[in-house]
Amino acid sequence: MTERERELLAQAYAEIEKNRDIVENDPYRLHYHIMPPTGLINDPNGFIEWNGKYHLFYQWQPFKTAHGTKFWGHVSSTDLVHWEHEPIALAPSEWYEQDGCYSGSAVEQDGNLFLLYTGNVKEDDERETYQCLAESADGKTFKKHGPVLHLPEEYTAHFRDPKVWKKDDVWYMVIGAQTKKLEGRAVLFQSHDLKNWTRLGDLTGTNTDHIGEFGYMWECPDLFELDGREVMVVSPQGVAPDGMLYHNEHQCGYLVGDLDYENVKYRHEAFVEMDRGFEFYAPQTLVDKKGRRIMIAWMGMPDQYEQKHPTIPFKWIHSLTLPRELKLVGNKLYQVPLEEMKILRGDGVRYSGAEVVNEEKHFAGLDGDVMEISLDHIHGTYEMLEITLRGNARFIYNKEKKLATLERASFAHGQTEARHCYLEKLDSLRIFVDTSSLEIFVNEGQEVFSARQFPYPENKGYSFASKGYVSFDLNKWDLNKSA
Ligand code: FRU
Repeated sequence: MTERERELLAQAYAEIEKNRDIVENDPYRLHYHIMPPTGLINDPNGFIEWNGKYHLFYQWQPFKTAHGTKFWGHVSSTDLVHWEHEPIALAPSEWYEQDGCYSGSAVEQDGNLFLLYTGNVKEDDERETYQCLAESADGKTFKKHGPVLHLPEEYTAHFRDPKVWKKDDVWYMVIGAQTKKLEGRAVLFQSHDLKNWTRLGDLTGTNTDHIGEFGYMWECPDLFELDGREVMVVSPQGVAPDGMLYHNEHQCGYLVGDLDYENVKYRHEAFVEMDRGFEFYAPQTLVDKKGRRIMIAWMGMPDQYEQKHPTIPFKWIHSLTLPRELKLVGNKLYQVPLEEMKILRGDGVRYSGAEVVNEEKHFAGLDGDVMEISLDHIHGTYEMLEITLRGNARFIYNKEKKLATLERASFAHGQTEARHCYLEKLDSLRIFVDTSSLEIFVNEGQEVFSARQFPYPENKGYSFASKGYVSFDLNKWDLNKSA
């Protein structure tokens, strides 16, 4: 370990200690989501099942609740529900990462854990980018091998976030990039040893590809096989709103297609938004020993409202989403809450055949702010169903317009803001409520709305209203704390 590294680590640990009490006293501190111990968290990184445990790293700025020189924080888990903090994995101590150990991924080779990440350097507004390798035998201390890939001349220095996987004994890596014409791309590389990389070509933006001008930069691409297809999850920047789509500052979505590795041809369907809510960005996936493709994302967004988060006075900002299992249903990616989430269930209430007819209705026992609510077998002649959640958020299904909406009072300016998606039919809802977040899974994960919500502390109630008759089976479970 270099002297600089030792120094940075000591400063980061001291910052955690210094802020521990204030952070833990925040009533909006979440109960079952991954959060920074202090400072800012953004992208999940290096998500892997290795040596009998799930490991998750994350972009972390320990010293302030804003972006800046990033470290890699590290947590591990045996059940994807209870996470333990591990020693800090990477500190930006070397010249090639002096302005941040940016996003990347983890793989196993010969029993060791390898991290591939972007070394970010900014000198007088000039950006440099290095794709770097680090290695660990124990998952706690990492030996840095330094840059293994320099910027190819075809791209600007917005070239980062390597995601690596193995296929037929060959390593592949996809990187988010920007062409010199300022178009977003995902670029494919190949290696036999994780150290020497050959560029195979751009996966998107080819002549046969209608997605050539979709945004000015593609961040955090992740490419994986699911049910015999290749799915690419990616976060494009610079995509303009289009009807009810793309209203967040930056977008996150996926392509479903088939990748011809030999000819480097990726034929795919149109881009689809991954999450319909307000805060969801830069997800990363792993495949676990059970063969599940699991995704976790940053429940945040780099936007003008970041600095308005009510948690900032408590010296922390942002969190990750719940991990979700991905399933391909036709060409649609479903996100299903993990089976393991049931471990957290405590006391509950149940109303079979609950009915709402026009007026506002409350159900006894249905209150709280760390819980799971499910509505199953939703049916009836209703035109509209509205669920008000803790006062300042509302989920609405307009059956006539086939429109699902999540509304909230903005924590930045108080005005109502809304996100929508088309929904042919509403069958079920599963809502994960945490002290300052909502994740609403519609129809077993067909659509998901993720959002931070900062309710007034005294507002822990839920109410239902409708136009017409609607009935459903209602369940509520209190959830135990795991974070
Ligand atoms: C996405 C991102 C990545 C980058 C990282 C820096 O949120 O901008 O492209 O590697 O965050 O923290």
